[in-house]
Amino acid sequence: MEDKILFPKIGGFVHGGDYNPEQWLDRPDILEKDVEMMKKAGINSASLGIFSWSVYEPREGEFHFEWMESIIDRLYQNGIYTVLSTPSGARPAWLDEKYPEALRVDKTGLRAHHGGRHNHCMTSPVYREKVAILDRKLAERFGSHPGVILYHISNEFSGECFCPLCTRKFRTYLAEKYDHDIDKLNAAWWTRFWSHTYNNFEQIEPPFANGETSVMGLNLEWKRFTTWNTNDFMKHERDVLRSITPDIPVTTNFMRLFGGLDYRKMAPDLDVISWDNYPLFHNDQETLGDTMDETAFQHAVIRSLKRDKPFMMMESAPGLVNWQAVNKVKRPGVHKLACLQAIGCGSDSVQYFQWRKGRGSYEQFHGAVVDHLGTDDTRIFREVAEVGQLLRKIAPAAGTIVQPKAALLFDWDNRWALEDVKALARDTKKYEETCIDIWKAFFRLGMDMDVVGSDEDLSRYDVVIAPMLYMLQPESARNLTAFVERGGQLLATYCTGYVDSEQLCFLGGFPGDGLKNLFGIISEEIDSLYPSDRNGIALPDGNRWEVRDYAEILRVQDAEILGVYTDDFYAGKAALTCKNHGKGNAYYIAARTDAVSMLPLFRQMLHNAGIPVKELPDGVEYHLRSGRECCYAFYLNRTDHMVEIPGVRGVDLVTDAVIEDNLLLPAFGVAVVRTSAT
Ligand code: GLA
Ligand code: ZN
Repeated sequence: MEDKILFPKIGGFVHGGDYNPEQWLDRPDILEKDVEMMKKAGINSASLGIFSWSVYEPREGEFHFEWMESIIDRLYQNGIYTVLSTPSGARPAWLDEKYPEALRVDKTGLRAHHGGRHNHCMTSPVYREKVAILDRKLAERFGSHPGVILYHISNEFSGECFCPLCTRKFRTYLAEKYDHDIDKLNAAWWTRFWSHTYNNFEQIEPPFANGETSVMGLNLEWKRFTTWNTNDFMKHERDVLRSITPDIPVTTNFMRLFGGLDYRKMAPDLDVISWDNYPLFHNDQETLGDTMDETAFQHAVIRSLKRDKPFMMMESAPGLVNWQAVNKVKRPGVHKLACLQAIGCGSDSVQYFQWRKGRGSYEQFHGAVVDHLGTDDTRIFREVAEVGQLLRKIAPAAGTIVQPKAALLFDWDNRWALEDVKALARDTKKYEETCIDIWKAFFRLGMDMDVVGSDEDLSRYDVVIAPMLYMLQPESARNLTAFVERGGQLLATYCTGYVDSEQLCFLGGFPGDGLKNLFGIISEEIDSLYPSDRNGIALPDGNRWEVRDYAEILRVQDAEILGVYTDDFYAGKAALTCKNHGKGNAYYIAARTDAVSMLPLFRQMLHNAGIPVKELPDGVEYHLRSGRECCYAFYLNRTDHMVEIPGVRGVDLVTDAVIEDNLLLPAFGVAVVRTSAT
């Protein structure tokens, strides 16, 4: 067994999902049948209690846990482990009635009414106290149960609260950050502009919709605070659990590249990273391949939050969801493909929302393993059971990890600063899209890339792409320089190094903080193009890359010019440069082009780094998980026809076949080929 395996008790991949027995307490026959059906589907875990508060504590101080105990017991007796949640994602009515301070206040200053979920004030002492009481009781009652393997804190943290308690906490947070010195804050926020100078921290309000939204520092600090405060709430719950059962790991379920929270700040405080994966399968905008590429990127974002162990796919839809504009069912075979993609990207779990469809309310028609029909012979059930079998076959790969040699830099701070900056073009900043576009181009070359922060250690990578790194963290420039000096291949783009982490512009030329010397250029102007405007970059090999949206005009100091603009008043000026630092190269592309056009450049960078490009037939997705003794190559055929993949050697754990050269994969087929670790 690999040493990084998340749950030795399970000894392989986790297969399970959200299970809501509290909705069926008056149907013991159904609860009994559930366990039988779970076994048939190869389910080995259930996530329990996510929204159970009103059943645990129907009235303030009146607790009932016996119902849950019998569920956990029965599951355990049948080989099914429990992921135990804290139910803080939704509040019972009695709590909001008695303690309205727990209700969130929106950016117009309006306090919410009772209802919905994920909408409490993260600061409210009463709310924290009520949550802690319940969490403590849960840990005391169930923490020593041999079936409980993981705590799942709350659910999909999100949102901001503008209530007086949060406002006060924000002020304290700022005072601590700026050493209780309001002048430091004024300087960092450049508040003499428009006469916005503060006299003291008490004058500061969050950026209310009808209040102060023109101080960029305030806007960004509010977002940072929201992450900090949400994480503070998460840690409050975690610490209660840990004080009783320190050995049970904790997670909370993230949501892809969610814009509201900087997950990288939360990750170190969790034992396991998990996320909820809901791709828009079979939509009318893109191909299945595009959808899967984007999903692979999202997996990479999550994987990179803790690079040295597997992550978990805490939720996914077995069939369809109920909240998209069009709730289309997954086509036959696609479920298996999506699940194996998660595993190939480094997940050690396939979990669903939800095990069984409820009869009423908001999610009554959300897909589930068990339909209202209630039988185990539906298409969805069969496909889930097939995945269950498959996960058992490939169990030796559990605990291995994906270790790419290439990384893409993505910072939440940078994203927030770019969204807010009054510059460039309002509708085409497209920071996330640009990152995803580049990531996908590398993926086409058979390369998984990590997605890491600009202030993170880059020593494990040979190729690093830093798209639109407008804001530099204090460590970013030093990191990037060290990376190139060590022989790394770096590509930065237009919009690099304009501001520091307070959003103050660098003086003396962009990119600032020493990066001018790294790249050997200064960006003197940036031209924003109208959506229909085009320019081009002419390359020495005769190719021309189309330019849209942004074009910087460079002063080249001591870099080599690899490409020049073709049009407009800056025709002939540098658009692609490279400055050599021994074995390392610092490339700079001054304009936006399609990442696919840049493939020759990416190939060159990989070649410089000595990383072989994997040539794959169209429609085949590839990942590599490595362990101490073995490596596992994942091949996914995303097409509806047979494909042949040459140059594959090893044992396919899916079919047990020994592959000596050509791997044949049927439509939507998957292979997990084991070789010894090199
Ligand atoms: C989220 C939530 C779940 C459920 C699903 C539906 O991921 O965490 O409780 O509502 O969405 O897709
Ligand atoms: Zn609040």
